[in-house]
Amino acid sequence: MRVLETTKLSFAYDDGTTALRDLTMTLDDGEKVAILGPNGAGKSTLLHLLSGFRMPFDGTVAVCGRKLEQQSADDIRRDLGLLFQDPDDQLFMPTVEEDVAFGPRTLKLDDIEGRVLRGLRSTGIEHLAKRRPHRLSHGMKKRAAIAGILAMDPRVLLLDEPTSGLDPKSRSELVRLLKSMDRTMLIATHDLEAAAEIVDRAIVLNVGVVKEGTIRDIVTDSKVMEEVGLELPAISRLFKELDSMGYPVEALPVSMDQAVAELTKVIDRVGRQARSRGVTKTAGQKKKT
Ligand SMILES: Nc1ncnc2c1ncn2[C@@H]1O[C@H](COP(=O)(O)OP(=O)(O)O)[C@@H](O)[C@H]1O
Ligand SMILES: [Mg+2]
Repeated sequence: MRVLETTKLSFAYDDGTTALRDLTMTLDDGEKVAILGPNGAGKSTLLHLLSGFRMPFDGTVAVCGRKLEQQSADDIRRDLGLLFQDPDDQLFMPTVEEDVAFGPRTLKLDDIEGRVLRGLRSTGIEHLAKRRPHRLSHGMKKRAAIAGILAMDPRVLLLDEPTSGLDPKSRSELVRLLKSMDRTMLIATHDLEAAAEIVDRAIVLNVGVVKEGTIRDIVTDSKVMEEVGLELPAISRLFKELDSMGYPVEALPVSMDQAVAELTKVIDRVGRQARSRGVTKTAGQKKKT
């Protein structure tokens, strides 16, 4: 099922800044898609428009088949869970558990206690339930904010720069968490490396759509990478280097899983070559005797 669809979506701020131009995109149930682009590309604006926080706009937005309009915005917002870039904009209750309960309570949903528990559990922060959100580390604040969204059980997660401001360990833990979550999500980020681990498909945005495809399609398009100033994941750089050293790489890996698969092939090939050299030698030696 199509859960999100925009047609020729355009938006300009009051001061005349055009943040989005003619953006047509879709997101299907179960998909994980990244919106990639540099600062100022319009990523946050897009998420705010999709979730009905900013209006009016040109073009159309449909959520689960319903057109987003002023009258339908409150209703539609229930299908979408928006994670703000800065968790301090999202957390404001005295304790984490009260914060996680806030959304479901406001929406008058059932089984608040169960929802809070599931939200805390799936983000791995049950032990922080009684803590003050503002005293948590940035990484744990992000988790608490995600727990609050999960507690509302939305159809789609809209995540704005989920990895920004995190130290390396918290970042990789969050990437693992998002990767393991069986949820439909749209992730706005300039962290190509994190996106490569999590998503199936990506849309490169720079006010308008620059390119759409798999992360591998995007990283192998040097013109696009240059235009939007995205940096190749370290793992891809390593394999480019291997390729130039004479170890042919069939498909440039962009994630750890792909790298492991590709490395196995490279090692196999090198092993076969070494064995065949060995066999030739033996054969040659036999000839001599
Ligand atoms: N409240 C605002 N008023 C005016 N211009 C804004 C406002 N918010 C963002 N912009 C501008 O809109 C463009 C897109 O911004 P944004 O959606 O925040 O991009 P991104 O999230 O990709 O960094 C930028 O040029 C930015 O300066
Ligand atoms: Mg932004």
